Amino acid sequence: MFVLAEQSSVGNHFIAELRDVQIQQDPLRFRRNLERLGEILAYEISKTLVFSKTSVNTPLGTSETFLLAQQPVLAVILRASLPFHQGFLNFFDRAENAFIGAYRGPHVEGEDFTVELEYLSSPDLTGKTLILIDPMLATGKSLEQSYRSLLRYGIPARTHIAAAIAAPEGIRYLQSKMPECRMWIGAVDDHLNHNYYIVPGLGDAGDLAFGPK
Ligand code: URA
Repeated sequence: MFVLAEQSSVGNHFIAELRDVQIQQDPLRFRRNLERLGEILAYEISKTLVFSKTSVNTPLGTSETFLLAQQPVLAVILRASLPFHQGFLNFFDRAENAFIGAYRGPHVEGEDFTVELEYLSSPDLTGKTLILIDPMLATGKSLEQSYRSLLRYGIPARTHIAAAIAAPEGIRYLQSKMPECRMWIGAVDDHLNHNYYIVPGLGDAGDLAFGPK
């Protein structure tokens, strides 16, 4: 598992701004910071991808260089993932994209957290690199359910999970249910509260990016 906050980088600055209630008053900045984190994680994941050697003509000669051999498929879990996904698209600009509408089922005291999937569209995933994009990895259940539904579109060669902030409970859940997937996380927080929100986290990422439901 890769954790960005374990390194000293400007990524920590963006995570701090995402959490800060004062800076959260500016939704444009909130979305932009999620996008910037997406760009950083896209860059880190790109180091694991396959590149092919090629030569390109410059105005002054020929350069032996490398091009991405195959673009990944980016899977977006609506709606908070949209700005985070934009960061990945900025770097993987020819990626194919899958979209999943997932929302939390009604919260019944004492009962397990449920996830409802309402919309799913995906290209063929067979043999491709899939990146599941969700900024807030809380219980891990929407990611798991989304992944299982996506497998109807073919078995990817490898799957990465990218999150800006994760709870240890969600990480453990995904490690047990989807051990074949590699996780790329901005920061790992303390715990989930009784409403399954990440503490200290940043609040509701979808509301902060797009306004209350
Ligand atoms: N989704 C959010 O937006 N925030 C959380 O803390 C957990 C899930």
